[in-house]
Amino acid sequence: MKKMLLAAALMTMSYNGFAAQEPQAVYDRSCGICHGGQIPTAPQKGDKAAWEPRLAKGMDALVQSVTNGLNAMPPRGLCMDCTDEDYQAVIKLMTE
Ligand code: HEC
Repeated sequence: MKKMLLAAALMTMSYNGFAAQEPQAVYDRSCGICHGGQIPTAPQKGDKAAWEPRLAKGMDALVQSVTNGLNAMPPRGLCMDCTDEDYQAVIKLMTE
């Protein structure tokens, strides 16, 4: 399963979209590798209690954390072609 995810991630990474990206697709190929429960310190998608203290920092701070990286999260969260808007949309998706 993990290998399949990685293969899928690599395939989509070589594809360059222009407009804002589909949040679910960004999640599936980048953020979900860690935010799907594989890394214990990463707040999981849909885990409102885990996201609450993060959301309290404000959306701008969260986008900054992803862009610069935070502890076990690598800079850009493994989405090299994501814009701030893309990050915002995926963060919304993960925190709902
Ligand atoms: C390699 C694993 C990994 C990937 C890939 C990853 N994250 Fe994370 N993320 C983490 C971990 C671990 C934390 C918790 C960091 C901490 O607080 O110690 C985290 C925390 C966060 C936070 C909270 C930051 C804060 O300031 O509290 C946000 C928002 C976030 N990730 C969004 C994303 C988005 C969006 C993506 C995809 C573009 C992504 N992450 C990809 C591991 C990852």
